[in-house]
Amino acid sequence: MGSYPALAFLLLFSATLSSSCDGGKVLVYPVDGSHWLNMKILVEALHSQGHQITVLRSSTSWYVSEFSPHYTSITITQEQTQNIESQDFMTSFLKRSIEIRRNKGTIWAFVEFYRNIFNMMGDNQKVVAKLIVSIFENETLIKELKETRYNIFLTDPAFPGGVLLAHHLQLPMVFNVRWLFNGEAHFAIAPSPLSYVPQLFTDNSDKMDFFQRINNMIRHSILAYMYYFVSNPPYQAVCDHYFGPDVSVMSLMQGADLWLMRVDFIFEFPRPSMPNVVYIGGFQGKPSKPLSSDLEEFVQSSGEHGVIVMTLGTLLSNLGPEISEIIASAFANLPQKVVWRHIGKRPITLRNNTMLVEWLPQNDILGHHKTKVFVTHGGTNGIYEAIYHGVPVLGIPLIFDQYDNVVRLKSRGVAEIVEVTTLDVESLTSSLKNILDPEKPYKQNMLKLSQLHHDKPMKPIDSAIFWMEFVMRHKGAAHLRTESYKLPWYAYHCLDVMAVFVAFGVLIIALVWVSCRWLIRRLISTTKTTSKSKNE
Ligand SMILES: *[C@@H]1O[C@H](CO)[C@@H](O)[C@H](O)[C@H]1NC(C)=O
Ligand SMILES: *[C@@H]1O[C@H](CO)[C@@H](O)[C@H](O)[C@H]1NC(C)=O
Repeated sequence: MGSYPALAFLLLFSATLSSSCDGGKVLVYPVDGSHWLNMKILVEALHSQGHQITVLRSSTSWYVSEFSPHYTSITITQEQTQNIESQDFMTSFLKRSIEIRRNKGTIWAFVEFYRNIFNMMGDNQKVVAKLIVSIFENETLIKELKETRYNIFLTDPAFPGGVLLAHHLQLPMVFNVRWLFNGEAHFAIAPSPLSYVPQLFTDNSDKMDFFQRINNMIRHSILAYMYYFVSNPPYQAVCDHYFGPDVSVMSLMQGADLWLMRVDFIFEFPRPSMPNVVYIGGFQGKPSKPLSSDLEEFVQSSGEHGVIVMTLGTLLSNLGPEISEIIASAFANLPQKVVWRHIGKRPITLRNNTMLVEWLPQNDILGHHKTKVFVTHGGTNGIYEAIYHGVPVLGIPLIFDQYDNVVRLKSRGVAEIVEVTTLDVESLTSSLKNILDPEKPYKQNMLKLSQLHHDKPMKPIDSAIFWMEFVMRHKGAAHLRTESYKLPWYAYHCLDVMAVFVAFGVLIIALVWVSCRWLIRRLISTTKTTSKSKNE
C-alpha cells in the first residue's frame, strides 16, 4: 500500500522532469567537414530526446545533407565555397604543408608554415563573414528565425559565423568546441599560463624546458597576430555595421552561456578551466557493432597476429604514390593483417596481407578484439575511439592540430610518432613492431587510459544533453559566466591597481628620501655651527 504515494510521486517527478524541456527548439549552425561529423552526434542525441532541430547549411555544403530524419534544414545560398570544404584544395594544402615540413628548422619553413595557414584561414573567414551578411540581409529569413522562438542556439565557433547570428537573434548560445578562430578555446576564457599550457603548433608537452617555453611564447604571439590581422577583421566589419563598434566577435564568444568542450583530461594536459565549461571529450564513443561478413573473415584470418587498422581521415586519405609505396612495403614486412583506408592508385608493393578499402567502419573495427594497432593522422575523432576501445596508436600527423594531438598520446605512453617527411620502410616497420611487441607497455598503458576514460559518473554524451537542456530550462547560464570578458585588458591583469601601488611606493620612497636629505643637511649644518662656535 505504502508504495502507491511513492509511485505517484515518482510518476509526477518524471513527468515534470520530462515536460520541463520537452520539445525544445534548437537552432544549429555547424562548421562543415569533420567538425560536422561530431556536431551530427549531438544533433542525433538531441533528436532522440524529443527536441526539434533546425540546421542552417550552405548550398555548397559538402557534408551536411539537406534531408535527414533527425533535423530539418534551411539552406543558405552561397556562391563561394569555403576552401576547407574542397577536396582539391585540401589535397594541395596537404602537399604544400608536407613540403614546408620537409624544411623544418629553417626560417623559410617557419615563415611559410604560418603564411600557408594564414592564407587558408583568412580566405575562410572572409567567406563565412560574407555568408553571415547574406543571412542578415535576408529579412524574410531573419523574421522566420525570430518567430520560431528557438530555445538555444548550438554552434561550433571554429568559424564564428554562428556566434554573430546567435547575437543577432538574441538566443542563449551553446558551443560544441575545441578550436576558436585564433587557437585553442580555453585560451579565450580561462587563465592559460604559458609555463605549463602548451600552445598550438609547438609540439610541446606540459613539461617544458626554458627553450620550449620561449617557443611557446613566440607561437602564442603569432596566434595573437593572426587574431588581430587575419581572423578578426572580416567579422569586425560585420560587427561594426550591425552591432556597433563596441562589440567584437571575441567578446560575443566569451559571453557564450555554455562551452561543451571536446576535451577529456586523460588526453589533454590538465589546465585551468571555468564553471561554464563542460567536458564532453569522447562523446562519440560507443560499443562496436559486428563487422560485415567479408571484413570479419579477413580479420579472423589474421590468427594470433591480429590486425592493424590504418586511416588518415576524411580529407587526407591520398598521400601520393611515393609515401603510399613506403607504407605498403612496411605493411608487407609484418605477419599481421592490415585494413587500410586508401584512396588513389593501388601501391605495387602491396602484399596480400593488406586489404584496401575506400571506407571502413572505424569504431566497429577498433572495437574488434583482433585489432592491435591504429595507424592514424591524429584527428581527435579517431583518437577518442582508440582510447574508448583501448587500442594503441601509431601517429602519422599531417596538418593542423594533429602533431600536438599525437604528442599528447605519446606523453601518456600509448603512441609512437613517425614523421611523414622522413618516412622510410625501415623506421615505419620498426615503430609498428615496437607497438605490437607484447613486452612493451603501449597496450597496458592504453587499457589504463581507457579505464580512466570510462570511469565517469555520466557518459559524456549524456552530460552534453543534460547541460543543453539545462540552458533551455533556465534560458541561459549567465550565472556560470565570469565577468572577465567585460574587463579591459589592463583591468583584467589588474595593471591599473598595480600602477597605483607602484605610484604609492614611489611616493613613499621619495618622501623618505627628501626627509632624509633634509635631516642630513640639518645635521651637517648644526655640526658646522657647533664646531664653528667651538672654534670661536
Ligand atoms: C531568404 O530566405 C528565404 C527563406 O529561407 C528564402 O526562401 C529566400 O530564397 C532567401 N532570399 C535570398 C535572396 O537568398
Ligand atoms: C599470400 O602470399 C603468400 C606469399 O607472399 C602466399 O604464401 C600465400 O598463399 C598468399 N595467400 C593468399 C590467400 O593468397
